[in-house]
Amino acid sequence: GDIAAGKRVFDNNCATCHLGGDNAVVSSQTLKQEALEQYLFNYGTEHNVEAIVYQVANGRGAMPAFQGQLSNKDIVNVAAYVKDQSESGWP
Ligand code: HEM
Repeated sequence: GDIAAGKRVFDNNCATCHLGGDNAVVSSQTLKQEALEQYLFNYGTEHNVEAIVYQVANGRGAMPAFQGQLSNKDIVNVAAYVKDQSESGWP
């Protein structure tokens, strides 16, 4: 995925709830590595990016599904950005 393109997708579609990698709705379920490992199904395996892609495409709980709202390319790119930021510690 293209991380720079993914940042633009994130700023336009995700930052309302996930500014700085936090979660404004369910505060424990952040986009930080420890939370992803704890809460995101299939994370912490070799499927990290795919797990984020799945969450974004399908949504879960109070998070809306983005399949049909975003292109598959945008979803892959935003997942790459989230994974990169989770590893580098968010801003
Ligand atoms: C959870 C990514 C947009 C609300 C998550 C998780 C990821 C993620 C990776 C799992 C985090 C974890 O379990 O620790 C994204 C991305 C978005 C986006 C990349 C944009 C494309 C939004 C928006 C909202 C939102 C706009 C609010 C309207 C939530 C909530 C959860 C969550 C409530 C917890 C869901 C649950 O109950 O399991 N998000 N998100 N997200 N997100 Fe988002």
